[in-house]
Formats: sequence, structure tokens, C-alpha cells
Amino acid sequence: MKNEIVSQITTECPWRDTLLWYETIDSTNNQAKILAKDGVPHGTVLVAQKQSGGRGRMGRSFLSPTGGVYLSVILRPACTPDKLMHLTCATAVAGCKAVENACGISPDVKWTNDLVVGRKKLGGILTELALNGVGVVDYAIVGIGINCCQQSEDFPEEIRELATSVQAVTGNACSPAKLAASLIEALWEMDKALLSQKAEIMDAYRKKCITLGKEISVLRGESVRHGTALDLDEDGGLVVRFSDGSEKVVTSGEVSVRGMYGYL
Ligand code: BTN
Repeated sequence: MKNEIVSQITTECPWRDTLLWYETIDSTNNQAKILAKDGVPHGTVLVAQKQSGGRGRMGRSFLSPTGGVYLSVILRPACTPDKLMHLTCATAVAGCKAVENACGISPDVKWTNDLVVGRKKLGGILTELALNGVGVVDYAIVGIGINCCQQSEDFPEEIRELATSVQAVTGNACSPAKLAASLIEALWEMDKALLSQKAEIMDAYRKKCITLGKEISVLRGESVRHGTALDLDEDGGLVVRFSDGSEKVVTSGEVSVRGMYGYL
């Protein structure tokens, strides 16, 4: 599988030389953290066929059976963390491009980190940062998981109405190796533009973000507030007008957002 991935990555992409492949791992993000602490270079990519402890945002688990693509890349951008507030949005734009290129379908994004097709979740993103002693980013882990060849009956019944895969959408077999290669190239392109083209990245994200204009519920711990998603700020924060008329920017670290009547 590793060779199948590497052979489909353009030779210009140096990340093809630092690819690590795992048949099963607890979480590519966890392993990436271990390797990053050990000092592996910028652009080290980890791909797994299956995760036994896949993690999502806000401490949730991310179901990761064979059939999906689970990938993390270690970045060392040598900047302060405020320069990377848009990292999850940039990853979402890259993830959409990769799925389009490899699979011929065009996902949308549910703010901030879900790739969706036809009201169902196709994949998710988990970005994590570590700082050094003087407040500069030591490393960033960009994790993305995409459901590739699962059939809808492969998902547990409780999430069958919420989750989908490339194969379930298109009816065609899609190669996880091809999708992994496409993701690696798209993330490499993203990395090159990350610090210099923030506004363009956020414009692309805005076009993909189906949350905008929707009636939403904002969940913070036990509290739920209703409002309308108006816009995104320059860092990817969601500008919400709440039902009491107040407007506030909410950030993905503090809240999760649901459609008023369901997942979207
Ligand atoms: C979410 O849905 O909240 C985010 C899911 C992120 C899943 C990816 S799969 C590769 C990487 N390893 C993990 O444990 N999580 C991310």
C-alpha cells in the first residue's frame, strides 16, 4: 500500500520521501506527536489503513475502520500560534480539493472541520499545536480522515444516517491509495500558501462553508443558544447573530455547532 501511495504522488512533492505507513495504529495524530517530539522534519506524513483510537474534536472519538483514509502531517512553520488560526479551514479547503481530484465529487464543509456530502459527514479534521518555551510553534499536527470505500451498512446503525463515504456517494470503488496521494499533494500545496495567502484561503473556505446563512444551535458545555451564522472572520471564527439580537464571534475551540433541526 505504501508504494501504491508514493507512486501516485508527483515527484516534485518532497513529502513522498517522508511517508510512514501503518496497517493499524491507535491514532495517526497521537503517533505524529510522538515523532514530532523526537524531532522528525517538517512534512513527515503518517497514513494508516485503520485506527483503533481515532480522535475527533472536543475529545470525541472518530470511527476509523479499514476502508477510510487516516492521515496526519507534521508541520513546523516557525511562527506564533496566532498566525495559524486558519489552519483547520486551510486543511478543509485542501481536503475538498483532494477528494475532487481523486474521486470526482465535490464535498462542502460544515463549520469548521467536517467535510460533508448530501447532508452526511464524509470526513473530519483535527489540527493540534505545540509551542516551544518562547511561545513559537514547535510543531502543528494536521489530521484528516475521509471515509473512502465503506458501504453504508459498514457504519454502525446509530451513525448510518449521519455518515457517508466516497463509495456510498458515487457507487464506484475508490482507491484509498489514490485518495491518500491526492491528500498529501493538496496538503503540500496548502502548506506553501498557508502563511502568505491567508485571505485567499479564507475566501475559498467561505465558498465551501454551508453553515453560513443557516439557523444554528451553538453548544458550549451544557448550554445551547440559537442564532444565525452570518459570516466568518479572518481567522475562521463564526460570526453569529443570537436570537436575543446580540452578535458574537465563536471559535471552534470553545463551541460546536449544529443545524437547528439536525446535523447540518
Ligand atoms: C472530527 O470529526 O471531529 C475530526 C476527525 C479527525 C480524524 C482524523 S483521522 C487522522 C487523524 N488521527 C486522528 O486520531 N484523528 C485525525
